[in-house]
Amino acid sequence: MLPQVVASAALPLEVAPILGSGVGYVEPPQGHLSRAELLAAVGGADGLICLLTDRIDGELLATAPRLRVVANFAVGYDNVDVAACTARGVAVTNTPDVLTDATADFAFALLLAAARRVAEGDALVRGGRWTGWEPGQHLGASVSGATLGIIGLGRIGRAVARRAAGFDMPVLALASGRNHADDPPGVDRVSLDQLLARADFVSLHCPLTDETHHIIDAGALLSMKPTAVLVNTARGPCVDEAALGAALAAGQLAGAGIDVFEHEPEVHPALLASPRAVLAPHAGSATYTARRRMGEICANAVRSALAGERPPTVINPEVYG
Ligand code: GLV
Repeated sequence: MLPQVVASAALPLEVAPILGSGVGYVEPPQGHLSRAELLAAVGGADGLICLLTDRIDGELLATAPRLRVVANFAVGYDNVDVAACTARGVAVTNTPDVLTDATADFAFALLLAAARRVAEGDALVRGGRWTGWEPGQHLGASVSGATLGIIGLGRIGRAVARRAAGFDMPVLALASGRNHADDPPGVDRVSLDQLLARADFVSLHCPLTDETHHIIDAGALLSMKPTAVLVNTARGPCVDEAALGAALAAGQLAGAGIDVFEHEPEVHPALLASPRAVLAPHAGSATYTARRRMGEICANAVRSALAGERPPTVINPEVYG
């Protein structure tokens, strides 16, 4: 029997030709599989292409005894129990690099939109409530020259730092255990307390881990300047959404640009109610090019793994000894 590959969603490219004629491939005609559908679909699967919204855990692995590779259509893989996959010899891959610029662009779009109140202005004009130019109307925060605090100076954080240089923004980044010698020029490493106290904009680019869960909580929000803007294009649970909504309502924070949420697709009512929050539907990597290239990486990773080769983007190389 041919090896079987399942995708949990319709992907924005032709996957079957990449996998080759020796591999069976099935994806839903549109949309994505529910948990129950996914569990049913992986029963005979050798390879799985999944989304960041699919939980890849012991239960799923137990229903998929033939599985050899899980290709996560995302750079973040907090949805995958990597240790459980490794224990079963299942390779896990992600999609780094190809979405770095798209996500950094989007973080900057949210930063600018929240600072200059673009969504509020759009609603004012469309709502027929704009009464004409006035000197004190619709004022927002200056971006050029303001200080940007980056939490998570990895590939995407660095790309955001490079964009910040074009806006003459001093950049603070969270001090971490890694070597800082290759930091982009002009980046100052500081503690979280210093970053929150000094930054005019705080942008999250960290993976979701036990350490970063609610790294922005009520206390952190209180430590930020009341004129500051928070941007989150990382993972929703990095921010305590209820605390953020309350901080915005209390005027403790000037604005927020939020692309990711704690319980997607649900959004905390306090954020929905805040005119100072610019909200996006987890669209950081949503360019035609990035999403296509993410699909290509996944398809190639599955093809390699099924051929017994180590995919370049494998997260748990130990499965290859
Ligand atoms: C999107 O959130 C990703 O991790 O790729």
